[in-house]
Amino acid sequence: MRETFVHDHWSNRFAFIMAAVGSAVGLGNIWRFPYITGENGGGAFILIYVVTTIAIGLPILIAELMIGRMGGQSPVNTVNSIVDRFRLSAIWKLIGWGSVIGAFVVLSYYSVIGGWAFRYVLAGFMGGFSGMTPDAAGSFFGEFTGSAAQLTFWHTLFMAVNITIVLGGLKFGIERAVTVMMPLLFLLLVAMVIYGATTAGFSEGFAFLFDFDFSKVTANTFLTAIGQGFFSLSVALAAMMTYGAYLDRDVSIPRSAGIIAFADTLVALLAGLAIFPLVFTFALEPSGGPGLIFVTLPIAFGKMAAGGPLLATLFFLLLSVAAITSAISLLEPAVSWAEESWGFRRSVTAMIVGGAAWFVGLASVFSFNDWSGFFPLAPLGLLENATIFDALDYSITNILMPTIGLLMSLFAGWALSRDAVAEALDLSPFGLGFRAWRFLMRYLAPLGVLSIFIANVVAG
Ligand code: PHE
Repeated sequence: MRETFVHDHWSNRFAFIMAAVGSAVGLGNIWRFPYITGENGGGAFILIYVVTTIAIGLPILIAELMIGRMGGQSPVNTVNSIVDRFRLSAIWKLIGWGSVIGAFVVLSYYSVIGGWAFRYVLAGFMGGFSGMTPDAAGSFFGEFTGSAAQLTFWHTLFMAVNITIVLGGLKFGIERAVTVMMPLLFLLLVAMVIYGATTAGFSEGFAFLFDFDFSKVTANTFLTAIGQGFFSLSVALAAMMTYGAYLDRDVSIPRSAGIIAFADTLVALLAGLAIFPLVFTFALEPSGGPGLIFVTLPIAFGKMAAGGPLLATLFFLLLSVAAITSAISLLEPAVSWAEESWGFRRSVTAMIVGGAAWFVGLASVFSFNDWSGFFPLAPLGLLENATIFDALDYSITNILMPTIGLLMSLFAGWALSRDAVAEALDLSPFGLGFRAWRFLMRYLAPLGVLSIFIANVVAG
């Protein structure tokens, strides 16, 4: 075996928190969360989301950061080394490999959607949405996504920015990017919410988010909430294990994880408070699905008497910043593994890995246009109308991530001894916090993920 590769560590706790919050806050909060909430009936979904995030997502986030720090390597070699050290079953190695490959695949299509955000910054800036009718907004989006050349261009640009940041390494690339971008993101978001609060639709938007309608809740709502929570917290996709590996011993993981989860949930709710008032003010559909941000919102921007282009530019800039700081953490796991395995310079490694993800992403690009009639899983009788992009997104969020989450909770809750994890978290094994965490890891997290998984598969 090669000598253990020594990774850089975060400069300080602030840099780590910014990077981790940057990873968590992404398209998942600003694009996916609002439309999933809209599709699932609003308030009741949010309540379920918050509860499952605290009870299941947060404990797993703590476990991932902890495991990352225990190994100090890429998730693959971190998990392998822990398995070897404690002589555990090789089955756990799936966590490392599965999550790193999952992150790589997600990056391939995340970059495509990130490219849409970039494109819309430009459109907003050029005043491109003014006076847009619903039909015009639909065809603008349709023509854009219908063009393989356009999507490829913006996907390429997004990935290039991402690679440029990651190849600079932890301190000169990632830390510098996130410490500028995260405060900017927060300012932009607050500005959007303040604007939303001045619109006529604010109370309706608020009620939509916070009035509970339980009639729409099914087993599927829980799976969706857990899946969304995992995605939004960046767990089960190697990112947090990788960031944990760069963390010094003197930083409290439970406290950091609490901050990350709090900030992530706050941003999702604020994004809802920024978006839904506009949707209602201009009498648009809250249940617009994936098009909510890219079709519905431009109509609202286009109808604003003044400031529409400015607000549109700021909003899509916010979305772009959020997407980039997450994409960084989707690229880093495979890069850190490749650094350990190939022995190339980091810049070369980042370009090879990022370039490969870019190439795989072309399949998602084409699934919106030239290959939009190709349903890869249909021959198996599954997901009959799912394009490559849909099939990838569905299998990752509904199958791979719950599976990794389940394995992760069993690994941290059962495979590792109580004393080993207490030491790794720097907590007393008899303290209340530690016992609560371990209980959730051992029982609630695995049972929750498993039962909802089964209920969903059985219910079809
Ligand atoms: N959390 C990110 C988002 O909300 C996505 C992500 C998932 C990033 C997993 C890294 C790992 O968009």
